[in-house]
Amino acid sequence: MKILVINGPNLNLLGVREPSIYGRETYFDLVDKINGYANRCGVDVEVLQSNHEGELVDFIHRAYYTKVDGIVINPAAYTHTSVALLDAVKAVGIPTVEVHISDVSKREDFRQISFVRAACIATISGKGTDGYLEAMDLLIKEQKK
Ligand code: DQA
Repeated sequence: MKILVINGPNLNLLGVREPSIYGRETYFDLVDKINGYANRCGVDVEVLQSNHEGELVDFIHRAYYTKVDGIVINPAAYTHTSVALLDAVKAVGIPTVEVHISDVSKREDFRQISFVRAACIATISGKGTDGYLEAMDLLIKEQKK
């Protein structure tokens, strides 16, 4: 099984940006954690990050051409603005789980909208970086259905 993990803008600054909200783990800690978990689960994983909306769209398209079985996406701020990411996830038809490190439901009003959510099989929010691992579990279960 192949899983692609896609991270949106500012997540490269994990550990530096607002640690009271996003924690002290760095982006590299996150990548290590995901790679280690994938290894234990026996799945292939690739972890990508971009600060650019169009590049995130390209990552999703690439998942289609490289026959990825499941996508974990934290679109970060583009969650709340991007119809392009929604359309891309719909276009490729790959099971996708939306992840947020913080609990967006308890934050500002503008974070209550998620465009991409409508194309996702589940949303995991407020579980810190463990949410990525939970998302991978959901995709592994989905694959076995
Ligand atoms: C986030 C929540 C978003 O509202 C925010 O813009 C982010 C990170 C999260 O992981 O909690 O950049 O997606």
